[in-house]
Amino acid sequence: MNLNEMICHRKSCRSFTNVPVDAAAIETIKAFPMKPLYPEIKVRMDIVSRDKVKCICPWTTPQLIAIYSEEADGYLENIGFLFQQMDLYLQTLGLGVCWLGMGRMNPKTAVTVEGMKFVIMLAFGHPKGDQLRHDFKGFKRKSLAQIADTPDSRLEPARLAPSAVNSQPWYFTHEGDTIHVYCSRKGSRLDAGIALAHLYVANEGFRFFKADQITDLPGYSYIGSVTL
Ligand SMILES: Cc1cc2nc3c(=O)[nH]c(=O)nc-3n(C[C@H](O)[C@H](O)[C@H](O)COP(=O)(O)O)c2cc1C
Repeated sequence: MNLNEMICHRKSCRSFTNVPVDAAAIETIKAFPMKPLYPEIKVRMDIVSRDKVKCICPWTTPQLIAIYSEEADGYLENIGFLFQQMDLYLQTLGLGVCWLGMGRMNPKTAVTVEGMKFVIMLAFGHPKGDQLRHDFKGFKRKSLAQIADTPDSRLEPARLAPSAVNSQPWYFTHEGDTIHVYCSRKGSRLDAGIALAHLYVANEGFRFFKADQITDLPGYSYIGSVTL
């Protein structure tokens, strides 16, 4: 399955074996090329063992991806955009994965990365059993009409995107060929980046830009605009 096909099958995994992902696979994962929204923002990923992490969730994985970024404008949506590509990629390798907003670096062993802050982590590993979705019934998501000013089937990949506590904070408006992307002020811009990643993976012609003279919608912040 390729990344685009994985959009309709992916699922957060919370049940793993204790078998670590082997060194060869870790090298493949480190080499996976991810496209950024903002290439100028420095980002770093470290694959760390469980003992480097503090998390109160009842399940765990032997390894996690710790994600750091410069704190520049747009860094949250940039991280969501980059690492949702990784979420899909890990699942094409047959691994299970879950964004872990609850996870923190263990202060006893945490490394300080000059000029960067820890943002979030992804838990990944060998899933117990079949971990993918095989039909759309498993997706609990808003309708296309709820996430855009006009229902637009091209937004289906974004509609299916994962978000923290399934909040789905994104909203899309149309202006000619351009789609403007917003994020609810109560939601996380990281989630908006995740939805944008699905639009990128599903559309070869994806282009992201900041439009001139655009105003925020009430209760929403402007993230950027795309053509597909
Ligand atoms: C930014 C982010 C943070 C998340 N943090 C957690 C977490 O700490 N614990 C957890 O079990 N799931 C976490 N999730 C998974 C979401 O609950 C999940 O994506 C959402 O409910 C939709 O389900 P799905 O991913 O299976 O489609 C997180 C997801 C995202 C995108």
